[in-house]
This record gives sequence, C-alpha cells and structure tokens, in this order.
Amino acid sequence: MSESHSSICSDLLGRETAEATRRAMQFLERTGQDALLDSVGRRFPELALENPPVTKDAFPTSYGRGKSCDDDLLAGLGMFYLTQSGKLMLDCVSGHYQMIWGYNHPELVAAATEGMRLGIIWDNHANIPATPVKLLASGLTALTEGIGLDRVLLGVCTGTIACEAALKIMLMRYQRDKARVEDAPPVVIALASNYHGTSMATQALRGMWPDLVAGMAPALVEPNDPDELRKTFERFGTRVAGFWAEPIMMNREAIKLDPEYLQLARQLCDETDALMVIDEIQTCFWYPDVLYSLRIGLAPDMIVVGKGMTAGFHPLAGLLYRSELDILEQYDAISTNGNASLAALVALSNMALIRRERERIERVSRRLEGGFRRIAADFPDVIESANGKGLLAGLKLRDREDALSFHKALVERGLWLRVHAYHEGHRTILTKCPLVVTEAIVDWLLQALRDTLSKKDWR
Ligand SMILES: Cc1ncc(COP(=O)(O)O)c(C=O)c1O
Repeated sequence: MSESHSSICSDLLGRETAEATRRAMQFLERTGQDALLDSVGRRFPELALENPPVTKDAFPTSYGRGKSCDDDLLAGLGMFYLTQSGKLMLDCVSGHYQMIWGYNHPELVAAATEGMRLGIIWDNHANIPATPVKLLASGLTALTEGIGLDRVLLGVCTGTIACEAALKIMLMRYQRDKARVEDAPPVVIALASNYHGTSMATQALRGMWPDLVAGMAPALVEPNDPDELRKTFERFGTRVAGFWAEPIMMNREAIKLDPEYLQLARQLCDETDALMVIDEIQTCFWYPDVLYSLRIGLAPDMIVVGKGMTAGFHPLAGLLYRSELDILEQYDAISTNGNASLAALVALSNMALIRRERERIERVSRRLEGGFRRIAADFPDVIESANGKGLLAGLKLRDREDALSFHKALVERGLWLRVHAYHEGHRTILTKCPLVVTEAIVDWLLQALRDTLSKKDWR
C-alpha cells in the first residue's frame, strides 16, 4: 500500500484497522504456502485487530447483528485469510462462491490497477459501452455461437436480475405464442430446492410467495428422476413455458444433474415448444470450458452467467440466448451499474487466466473429485456419497446431526466451508475451491477431512 493510499484508508477505516490489515497482508504475502498450511486454524494474537472500530449493530439480525466480529475477515490472499482475531483460515468455498481466483489474485489486481491507470473508467451509461464490455460480450458469444446462442444481455449486475430477465423472456414468449390456446397460467418446471436468485419472481420458481406472485405456476420436480420429469411434461403439455435447472445444484447439496437427464429435458422442451434455461451462475468459469453446458454437450435456449465472471471484483452477470429471443426492451432488464468497463476488463483477465491454466485446472479438479470419492468409499458408515463435479464438491453424510457437527469441527480446525442441513433430508458439507487451489492444498484438505473423520470426537 502506498503512503497516500494508507493515509486515505487510515482516515476512512481508522489507523489501527489500516495497520492491522497491512500487517495481516504482509504476513500472508511473506509466508510460503507450506508454512501457511501448517498454521491453518492457528491464532496469531500479534496479527489481531485489537480494538475494532465498529460492531455489526447496524446490520439486520439475519446478517449477524449483535454477534462477535472475531471471526470476520481482516485480510485475504489466495485461499488463505486472517480473521479479526488473528486466526488463519483456509477458504474452501471461494468467499460466497464468487472469488474464482481466491483473494487478491496478483494478475487480476494488476489488470484492474493498470486498467485504471490507463484510463479505463469504472462505469458509464449503457448506451455508450466502452471496449472491455464489448469484448466481453463478443468473447462470451464466441463461446456459445456453436450452440446457437449469439446474443448476450450484459447490462445486469447480479445473477438475480439475469435470471429474472430469462424468466421474463420465457413468459413473454409464452404469452405471444402459446397463451391463446390455454386458459390457465403457464407452467415453469424447475427442480425442488432450486435457487435462481432472490427477487420475488425467481423465488416463486421454488414455490415461495404463492399468494403474492400469480400468473405463473411453478411445477417442482426432483433432480435426476426422468420418470417424474416425463410425467410432468405430459401432464402440462403445451402449457409448459419452460424448464429451469442448475447443472450442479450448489444450493442443494452439490447434486450433479446427469447429462442424460438434461438431454431428456432438452428433448421434452422441444416436443412441447418450451424453453430451456440453464442457470450457470455457480458453474460458469469454474471449468476450463468456461460454460458447463459446453462441457457436457448441452444446447439450452438460454444460459445465465455471473458470480465468478468478474472474480468478485464488482458484480456483473449476463444472459446468453438465441437471436429470436431478443425481445426485451433495454429498460425491461437492466442494472444501471451493469455497464462496468473496469469489471469487464477483470472478467477478460479472468478468461485469459482460465485459458492459460486450463490443464492445471483440469488436473486439480480431478484430484479433488477423486479424493472426495475415495473419502466416501473409506468412511461408508459416516459418508453416504461424494457429490458434485470437479471443484464444486460435496460430501453427503448419513446423518443430519453428524453433518452439522462435522462442519462445526472443520470450521474450528480452520476450514471455511459450508453445510446444507437446514432442509428436510439435507446433510452435506460443501466446498468450491477457487481455481488458484494447488495440488498441495488439495492433498492437505483431503487429509484434514480424513483426520477429522477418523477422530470422531465431533460426533
Ligand atoms: C444458481 C444461482 N442462481 C442465481 C443466483 C443469484 O445470483 P446473485 O446473488 O448474483 O443475485 C445465485 C446466487 O447464489 C445462484 O447460486
């Protein structure tokens, strides 16, 4: 941090916070990966922020109002971060599933810094898009032209808005082409416990707000059950406006949809003239092919991208579709912060990194996936299955209470990962390591999971 920056940050955050952040960052930068791994879970009192300038009192209760700030993040680099109380953690879920290259990846930081110095502006009006945004748009459609998706709506910040744009297109097309033959609301088939964002309409897709959102009837089906899917399409026939799926359900125990199941959905959509939306907010950019649909040879009508695209720098999302679905007006789906040149530049840098590191990404992904499978095989009394694909991975336990206790023990051990155990039948711990994960970190993580499972003192 240069002097002028550090004094601005001292003024804004308080001198002690600025100094503690700098100290923590220097520690992360100067300590080698092996030494960091050896210290995961350790507390370094000399790196703690002793007198935090602020509490979480202004936060809503659901966001931690009144809770201690000890475990909150102070500084992060790659997969490692230090908490305010000086505990070293290994982040195995890439922040909130968006930090695709971990924290402060040097090349992405350099792209943003150099871009800013060059004069790339942060954001501007959508009617005068700058070169990075146009390059990102053409880069994305270059990927999907082969499956007929040659348009991308990029002027939206969050996945929710991009998903909602897909829903709008789906329902508008239904109204235009099919509504006159039916006297009942269009049916949207989606997977039970899906997550396509937090607007009311996207939450209605998972059965929420039934009395508040009318005009569309969600029909929820269990993932990977072809018979139920066939019956649901048969039951509603041409009333089906479309089918939605997340190919790896990172909001439901990392369930991987069978490619054959998705191809069946494609076929049933064709037969009923319905649209297929694949929500790749979680999967996009996390595989060397960039889009998971391309990896499995699937040709949806629309693909939603976001989250990892800008590596957490500033949110940008997008919706890819065929030109005949280009039916929205500009202000039907827009975020006024959605034309962000600097963020688009970081997304281009992200894509370049993925291209360059393709083979390594394949290798570490295989190593982690294989390691999870072996853990499931070696601890059959506790683990039911290894879920997911590549770095999007879960371990489903046999017992819900075990899943919660196992998760708690791992977090105490210094592993930041998530657990899905709050819905009936859910009992899975989840990881989504960033692409910066190394083979040594994968091996360390697998060993930490094994050691914790062997000890059983958490049960
Ligand atoms: C599959 C999926 N769709 C949509 C969203 C919504 O994205 P955002 O939080 O950017 O609105 C998420 C967020 O986690 C997601 O995982």
